[in-house]
Amino acid sequence: MSNKIEIYRDYINKYLNLYFDNKGSYNRVIYDSASYSLNIGGKRVRPILFLLTYGLYKDNYRDVIEMASAIEMIHTYSLIHDDLPSMDNDDLRRGMPTNHKKFGESIAILAGDMLLNEAMSLLIQFSIKHGEKALIASREIAEAAGPEGMIGGQVVDIINEDKLISKEELLYMHNKKTGELIRISIVAAAILANAPKKDIEILNDFGLKLGLAFQIKDDILDIVGDVSKLGKNTKSDESNNKSNFISLFGLEYCERECINLTKECIDLLKGLSVEAIELEEITLDLLNREF
Ligand code: IPE
Ligand code: IPE
Ligand code: MG
Ligand code: MG
Ligand code: MG
Repeated sequence: MSNKIEIYRDYINKYLNLYFDNKGSYNRVIYDSASYSLNIGGKRVRPILFLLTYGLYKDNYRDVIEMASAIEMIHTYSLIHDDLPSMDNDDLRRGMPTNHKKFGESIAILAGDMLLNEAMSLLIQFSIKHGEKALIASREIAEAAGPEGMIGGQVVDIINEDKLISKEELLYMHNKKTGELIRISIVAAAILANAPKKDIEILNDFGLKLGLAFQIKDDILDIVGDVSKLGKNTKSDESNNKSNFISLFGLEYCERECINLTKECIDLLKGLSVEAIELEEITLDLLNREF
């Protein structure tokens, strides 16, 4: 793991750790609940991708921490809601009891909602300071999280429990529920950094492929992962009777597909106008990850 990735992860963790300090009064529990899920140990893949991509074109990564953190807040809200009894009904997340197990279902729902609001507020504040590119990037992030993005994918995931899904619908589900937030972490940073148009197109394709590989790997880990490393229970998909890449194509195909997508990702990066060593490195790390 390169030094830069570690430095970025540390910086994101410090920012998020302090974020909800000293806020609230009678409503304090909502900050405790949101802060709990936000700070119990996510990998920070999305904000790291954001800062790495921004860093390809600019040096002042500290100035864009708000946008990187907003994406992590949206992601964390999606996890809190994903784990709810009415969704995947999971008890373990990031190595700790899920939000609803710790705070109860009502507060967990509100904590998810609150993280989404806080993220939007951060994006707006950031755009007021940084101008049009920030505004464009913010709108793209909001869309990637919405009904044509992450929520769209979650809808298709939920309505297809106990059903056999076609390959096309499965691809839609994965590209949207997970791919969109990963893609936009990369593309929003490139927009904000004023990257050349051709680079933005390449990074968009890179983000799509990386996002798909990420969810296929998540499906693999759901079968073969080690709970103590993964920080969430395995066999969640099977117990909810979900269609996923493994149930449709089997483990071997999925492992090969992850390797192929990773190669395609690395090839795409070679076409950029700048060298992207750390993005290559994180792409390989994600292929080989155990959690
Ligand atoms: C898990 O995401 C949910 C998916 C979208 C696959 P991560 O694997 O990035 O989870 P954290 O953030 O590290 O907990
Ligand atoms: C979730 O996919 C994607 C989200 C938008 C949260 P999963 O349901 O497979 O994610 P995990 O395995 O619970 O992290
Ligand atoms: Mg789910
Ligand atoms: Mg789940
Ligand atoms: Mg999963």
